[in-house]
Amino acid sequence: MNRAFFHRSSTVALLAAALASAWLLAACRPAETLNLNQPDVWPHGAMVSAANPLAVAAGIEMLEQGGNAIDAAIATHLVLGLVEPQSSGLGGGGFLLHYDRSTQATLFLDGRETAPAGATVDMFMTDKGAMGYIEAWVSGKAVGTPGMVALYHQAHQQAGRLPWSTLFEPALALARDGFVVSPRLAGYLPMMAQRSRLAKNEGSQDYFYPDGKPLVSGELLKNPEYAETLNAIATLGPSAFYTGEIAEAIVQAAARPPHPGTLTLSDLADYQVKSRPVICGPFRTYRICTTSPPSSGAAQIMIPNLYDQLAPNSVQPFDHIIRFVDAQRLAYADRDHFFGDPDEISIPLDILLSPEYLQVRAKDRFAPDEPVSHGDVWQFKGASAETPRWAPDTTDEMAGTTHLSIIDFDGNAVALTATVEGPFGSQRWAKGFVLNNEMTDFAKTVPEDGSAVANAVAPNRRPRSSMSPTLVFDETDALVLVTGSPGGNSIPAYVAKNIIAVLDWGLTPQMAVDHPNIIARGDTIRVEIGRGEGQAIAEALEAYGYSVRRREGENSGLHSIQVTPTGLQGAADPRREGVVQHLTNPSH
Ligand code: GLY
Repeated sequence: MNRAFFHRSSTVALLAAALASAWLLAACRPAETLNLNQPDVWPHGAMVSAANPLAVAAGIEMLEQGGNAIDAAIATHLVLGLVEPQSSGLGGGGFLLHYDRSTQATLFLDGRETAPAGATVDMFMTDKGAMGYIEAWVSGKAVGTPGMVALYHQAHQQAGRLPWSTLFEPALALARDGFVVSPRLAGYLPMMAQRSRLAKNEGSQDYFYPDGKPLVSGELLKNPEYAETLNAIATLGPSAFYTGEIAEAIVQAAARPPHPGTLTLSDLADYQVKSRPVICGPFRTYRICTTSPPSSGAAQIMIPNLYDQLAPNSVQPFDHIIRFVDAQRLAYADRDHFFGDPDEISIPLDILLSPEYLQVRAKDRFAPDEPVSHGDVWQFKGASAETPRWAPDTTDEMAGTTHLSIIDFDGNAVALTATVEGPFGSQRWAKGFVLNNEMTDFAKTVPEDGSAVANAVAPNRRPRSSMSPTLVFDETDALVLVTGSPGGNSIPAYVAKNIIAVLDWGLTPQMAVDHPNIIARGDTIRVEIGRGEGQAIAEALEAYGYSVRRREGENSGLHSIQVTPTGLQGAADPRREGVVQHLTNPSH
């Protein structure tokens, strides 16, 4: 039997989605196994791991006030939007994965940016072909309807504990009174002035380049516009963002040249968070639960299982790395081919995650320096003539994203990955924050032969995402790992390294995060040689015929928490500015 299954969800909508598939129906757990009334004591305290110490402190403050993981996640992210605007914020979107320990329910809320109703399949095409990387990045067409504020609200309505307005207090205080500019934020600004429009656009120019000079690390920065925006949302709820003055400022910013976008007030007013299935699949005695499309979370089930299918060869040096590379290559090719917005296209997810498919897929052989093509899903039960065959797509994604992991005093967890897409999104400014350029996560090129691409632009569609917040459970259904990472198209590789390194290589979460990143999408393998055994890994892969691109450093931002019998072990990615904080006793 196909053992991949959707995890229990607390929402009717999610149940309805699960009921839509007979296979899923058969695989769902019976509701009577729920244990609603007898949550055990949670002995491990609470933990927050995120990309900035001020943001972590905000999450901790919520937990100390009696808030839960959802409250802490929202407060942490509101501060990230202020102190790490290059990565995510109110002008972007995100995926939130929640685990409620008392009911064992998991919930996936999709707050992905959405294409305006006026978007067209060829909106990134010009007379000279598809727009270049920078041209599309800074264009108004790149701006999608932001989802973050609606995501906060829905998560809070469904599972928050503290009053809504309390969640805004830490970010409001920092925006009003000022925060110290971090080296990473300051470090981006000279380069952004050269390559992008951040130093030219209305609003972002004055904020990031006061008196024409980039902010420097260590200086105190206030953002009174962000404080006003937060105050409005804290007082009036999400309607203060999706209608009225803030919405008007967003629409105006997207409508400016170059390449003005079509975002309207109706696009904003119509924005909906989607409650989507959590997908789970077995890995040895574990169960990996992650976000369904438009996320690429499924790769977190595929890569570890393909890794296990690829026969170990104990005499081959770095055998585990070679299997990891080959597993990635196969999973990436499938992700690139089949994934997109599940409300718009048919994705053969049940086949891709089935043990039968993964067993066959692992036998697909490609020379180490040869491009890898997608698997043959059509030979499996459940596929039909309608299961689409798409034109090739190798959409680029930039690395302006963040991830936070939280466990609260009741053992509930949140894995939240949030983004504005490229660094500082589209660099268009509205009321204290930058707007995303998430529409460039769609395939920009329209094939000349008229064939369709799974991840093509369409009105009201959500672009495929690499973001993959993930939870791992053991055979007793106890939570083992909370993880995720930014990194654009490299996210599946970064997160899978983290999972396999903890579950198979026996590394602590911090050692797993520190381990060199290895990204195997396509026919070139990127190896992070500036860490640990990176150089030796690159040499070993070359010796086996792989085409290797050496990179001194990678752009992961893994923030993870492992639950061990003796307590919580957190990890923060040294490649960014994150920290982990552990609270052992609730003070409330
Ligand atoms: N823009 C990053 C992602 O969605 O994967």
